[in-house]
Amino acid sequence: MKRKKIRIGLLGVGNVGCGVLEILENNQALIAERTGKFLVVTHAVVRNLEKARSLVSSDVVLTTDAMSVLQNPEVDVIVEVMGGEYPAFDYICEALRQGKPVVTANKEVLSKHKATFFALAKENRTDIYFEATVCGGIPLIRTMKVGFAANRINAFYGILNGTTNFILTKLEEPGSSFDAVVKEAQALGFAEADPSMDLSGLDSAYKLTILGAVAFKANVQLDDVYYEGITALESSDVAYAKELGYTIKLLGIGREVRPGKMTFKVHPTLIPEDHPLAHVRDEFNAVFIVGNAVGESMLSGRGAGGAPTGSAVVSDLMDIAFDEHPLGNKRNLESLGADIAIVPFSDTVSQFYLRLHAVDTHGALARISSVLAEHQIGISKIMQKDIVDNEAEIVLVTHLAVESTMAAAIAMLESEPAVGGISAKIRVGLDEV
Ligand SMILES: NC(=O)c1ccc[n+]([C@@H]2O[C@H](COP(=O)([O-])OP(=O)(O)OC[C@H]3O[C@@H](n4cnc5c(N)ncnc54)[C@H](OP(=O)(O)O)[C@@H]3O)[C@@H](O)[C@H]2O)c1
Repeated sequence: MKRKKIRIGLLGVGNVGCGVLEILENNQALIAERTGKFLVVTHAVVRNLEKARSLVSSDVVLTTDAMSVLQNPEVDVIVEVMGGEYPAFDYICEALRQGKPVVTANKEVLSKHKATFFALAKENRTDIYFEATVCGGIPLIRTMKVGFAANRINAFYGILNGTTNFILTKLEEPGSSFDAVVKEAQALGFAEADPSMDLSGLDSAYKLTILGAVAFKANVQLDDVYYEGITALESSDVAYAKELGYTIKLLGIGREVRPGKMTFKVHPTLIPEDHPLAHVRDEFNAVFIVGNAVGESMLSGRGAGGAPTGSAVVSDLMDIAFDEHPLGNKRNLESLGADIAIVPFSDTVSQFYLRLHAVDTHGALARISSVLAEHQIGISKIMQKDIVDNEAEIVLVTHLAVESTMAAAIAMLESEPAVGGISAKIRVGLDEV
């Protein structure tokens, strides 16, 4: 029997929870017209009952007792927007055990426990929806699962973190400094008071594991992902990259290197200026997808904020409303990680941008070239910058090289008397073999 009303238990009434409440209120008529159902929050769970909550109407049962909501037969769907690993993990498991569909915006808990959630959902003939966990306002998960269903996805390259993209964009302004730009991002609300999860690349790495599950059905764990953030970058790298015809972006890359062999990594990357990803600026997110039928495609939009993320949560709720049917379990990701292998990061291949300091003596440049040549690493572009304190800054871009070979070449360069130090090593472009 189809219900006319879907009763929602909302776990968390913070930024995203409030976004959800606002959309459900403002677009109530539109949602009912499109789905034929009324989506109504009947229960909300918070930590602090004393906080003023103007968006929570008096009809909503506000409580700190999550289990009473999860086990209430009069609650049909659970929306988890409280964040963190625990108790969110226990609450999602309990909701699924109760046979209730779950919608979550929580990338951390999903990244770590997706295999448990998918198995529990299947066992209990229900589903977990997570459009809001990656790139907030961009309808990415559903597009990958449904819109690109006819494709084998070969690779995706994502600007998955708005904070770091904002910082990298601002670093392009002459005279900018990393610390000042981080402060500006915090003042504008684009960076948290503690931005370390964004800057270190960890936030992107969590999202990458989720996209890996969607694109390749791979049970990718955080340990399978190499991640490197943007804290080692300097504004001079951004400027030199520009001179060489590139823009630096923090990319989350998932790629099938050979059939069944995958690589997952997050690192700053020099993108050629004519590539669509190079034009994704400020706090925007984007994912460039390569499918074997559709070819290259890019989705872009706002990645975070209460309203864009709330929009993704409500679209999942509407999805539940659209196809509410007795069998459930229609969109589960089955057979996670059945037969994929991770290519060790040290075996992956890319071009490299290096910024190094050569002692200003005759033959220093030749020595650097010959160390690279000894490792079969060719140079594609090279520039010599100013000489300061008897050291010349040299910026170069190599041809494709294997990570482990490049690491060996760098170790040799570091012990060279002709080299004063290596200040930057950044991977270039999307091409690999
Ligand atoms: N903010 C964004 O732009 C964004 C974007 C994408 C995804 N997300 C994800 O969405 C989730 C929520 O983020 P947010 O920014 O909305 O967080 P938030 O503003 O800190 O809100 C968290 C809410 O959850 C409640 N809560 C936290 N721990 C709880 C517990 N143990 N028991 C009961 N209630 C608890 C809090 O209660 P009190 O109000 O009583 O403190 C608060 O209402 C996170 O997983 C985040 O990663 C956020």
